[in-house]
Amino acid sequence: MMRVALVGAGGMASVHAGCYDAIENAELAGVLDIRPEAAEALAGKYGAKPYTDFDTMLAEIRPDVVDVCCPTPWHVDYVVRAAERASELGIKGISTEKPMARTLADCDRMIAACEKAGLPLFVAHVVRFFPEFSLAKREVEAGNVGRPASVRTRRGGPMPRAWDDWYADFDRSGGAVLDLIIHDFDWLRWTFGEVERVYARGTGTSQLPSFDYALVTLRFKNGTIGHVEGTWADPGGFKVTVEIAGDGGLLEFNANQPTGAPFKAALQAGSGPRAGVAVPESPTGNNPYQLELAHFLDCLERGATPSILPQDGKEAVRIALAAIESIQTGKAVTL
Ligand SMILES: NC(=O)c1ccc[n+]([C@@H]2O[C@H](COP(=O)([O-])OP(=O)(O)OC[C@H]3O[C@@H](n4cnc5c(N)ncnc54)[C@H](O)[C@@H]3O)[C@@H](O)[C@H]2O)c1
Repeated sequence: MMRVALVGAGGMASVHAGCYDAIENAELAGVLDIRPEAAEALAGKYGAKPYTDFDTMLAEIRPDVVDVCCPTPWHVDYVVRAAERASELGIKGISTEKPMARTLADCDRMIAACEKAGLPLFVAHVVRFFPEFSLAKREVEAGNVGRPASVRTRRGGPMPRAWDDWYADFDRSGGAVLDLIIHDFDWLRWTFGEVERVYARGTGTSQLPSFDYALVTLRFKNGTIGHVEGTWADPGGFKVTVEIAGDGGLLEFNANQPTGAPFKAALQAGSGPRAGVAVPESPTGNNPYQLELAHFLDCLERGATPSILPQDGKEAVRIALAAIESIQTGKAVTL
């Protein structure tokens, strides 16, 4: 049984808490938040203990895993503090929500602290666990679109409103580029390899806190062109679409279903009648958040390396920060 200490009791922490409740070898032991009433409400729901002091939580519950789900700028503090006490308390691994951190320097501090402690650090890039996205990667790798030429992703919805309206504060959230389309930067890098050049246009900080919008062009080292659109200016609801074109075909899907719903992706042949070759629907209906956390716990129990490494989290932040720099300077950024 893996005992989990959860940092944060907001939206994403609530999702993670529900996942631990459903994972057989997990027990949510403690929930920490700066708002005692929030920690009490979430801990109470799952029979865990509420905390407002991190060191007290660690000392009392001696967790196997610390899972950091508070707003982005504080990921670094909790990860470093947990890593520093890991050997004394028997902590086996740390997970942090995306984006890994607000700056590359913070990513480096997290990586260094976990390396020093010999501790796995998992960055929860959940899109890799969405079946349509993992299937699309497999289709690309199998050569079913031929040599990829371009990939377009669009992700977004209304401006998120949460604790202290922190998403609307660029200094804390990094806007839609760092917070939202980092999902796509990670999946794209996982699927198409390293990015060499970034050019972006966007509203930047000028329209926050009402909305944010960005259009990012990526050039991958393999020659693929990426076109990544992110919006917090769409009051019509959250939507995600993907289109991958290559000399062997076109793969497109629309992921606008509730989490866990079956999906359908269409792969159209590059030549001949465009009848469409259906790829299988997901028979599982598994919650991707549960899949990612179960994967990390399973790796810790087996002593296996998790599928997302700290360096992956850092590289996604690097692409996002390059896009923000490009929006601010009007110039392309070479990575
Ligand atoms: N993977 C995903 O799909 C996904 C979705 C949403 C958010 N996120 C990420 O999850 C993280 C949390 O976002 P959220 O939407 O849950 O935010 P939220 O505002 O809903 O919740 C944040 C919680 O953290 C608490 N908090 C604030 N400062 C704190 C601190 N210093 N220490 C401890 N607790 C503190 C707040 O009281 C609040 O309860 C962010 O990094 C965000 O980018 C990921």
